[in-house]
Amino acid sequence: MNYNIAVLAGDGIGPEVTKQAIKTLNAISEVYGHHFYYTEASVGAIAIEETGNPLPEKTLEVCYNSNAILFGAIGDPKYDNNPNAKVRPEQGLLQLRKSLGLYTNIRPVRAYEAVMDRSPLKRDRILGTDFTIYRELTGGIYFGEKNLSEDGTTASDLCTYTEKEVERIAHLAFKAARTRKNKLTLVDKANVLESSRLWRRVVTEIGKSYPEVEIEYLFVDNAAMQIIVNPSQFDVILTENMFGDILSDEASVIGGSIGMLASASIGDSSALFEPIHGSYPQATGKNIANPIASILSAAMLLSHLGLTEESEVVNKAVDIALDKGIVTADIDPKSNYGTEEVGDYIASKIHDIDNIKPLNKENIDFGKSTII
Ligand code: IPM
Ligand code: MN
Repeated sequence: MNYNIAVLAGDGIGPEVTKQAIKTLNAISEVYGHHFYYTEASVGAIAIEETGNPLPEKTLEVCYNSNAILFGAIGDPKYDNNPNAKVRPEQGLLQLRKSLGLYTNIRPVRAYEAVMDRSPLKRDRILGTDFTIYRELTGGIYFGEKNLSEDGTTASDLCTYTEKEVERIAHLAFKAARTRKNKLTLVDKANVLESSRLWRRVVTEIGKSYPEVEIEYLFVDNAAMQIIVNPSQFDVILTENMFGDILSDEASVIGGSIGMLASASIGDSSALFEPIHGSYPQATGKNIANPIASILSAAMLLSHLGLTEESEVVNKAVDIALDKGIVTADIDPKSNYGTEEVGDYIASKIHDIDNIKPLNKENIDFGKSTII
């Protein structure tokens, strides 16, 4: 099959980690005979430099004409430290989400055996953690009316949600729970916020169509604590934009490194895949950034295209790299492997497909694999 992939590598370490994800996709295309046609387009600080606009019209067009978008990272300290900046790299990402209608952000959180001891949390706390955050991505306080009074002394950001906005992501989250452990936790602040009470009402109503899924309601402050105290209790967490943003960074601690967390942003006619980490400017060009989040995002991309076995193979190749210690220094400070080497290794394991087909997982788990 042929697929058009838009590549928006962005700023900082974005290009170098995205390069590894493309290596992975190329390995898959060679093994399975698919054709991925990549079109690069600029976004973020680099796009501001080139065009004055963090999301040039041409980039949007490339995205509209793609089957999927591979995204790197955006952000530059030069803008972070300037509260008066009129254009910011982040606006590019927010406009992209809005323009493409990417209303559901999916962020899987897993405690990988090989990385568990890197987590600041104790092993017995995080053992067995495997949940997915469904974060609403195009509504709420991020996109509500913003005001700054003329004298600059008062500011406000409005948090608005419509029933429709809640319904469409809720259906996706319930469907996901059905393929997992049949549990959905709605995280909100319904004791205080009217918008949260709307979420509760709509989600409860939709839940009636998914009777096999147990619904649990949790206030966001309590959820923030539970994610640390007992993360394995969760299956699917459904929440609004801002709460999801904060909780997913918190949850990344469980995975031992933010460099491990992938994400998918899904709309009705577009889909974008990106690591949740930022542009990490201090690491740019040093070959030290962890490419795994980007590679796992490519695995999510494959799964979205219906290439389930291919996606599994990428996940397995990552598991092998972790098991064998072929990782960057954020995971193993003594490691000499860089971004490129980890990418090369994972791609080489994909070529070694007969040894890593999903069925072989048992051998790998028991250390019986003959791969190395
Ligand atoms: C994320 C990021 C973005 C967000 C920023 C870069 C605007 O933190 O994808 O989580 O807040 O959504
Ligand atoms: Mn974030």
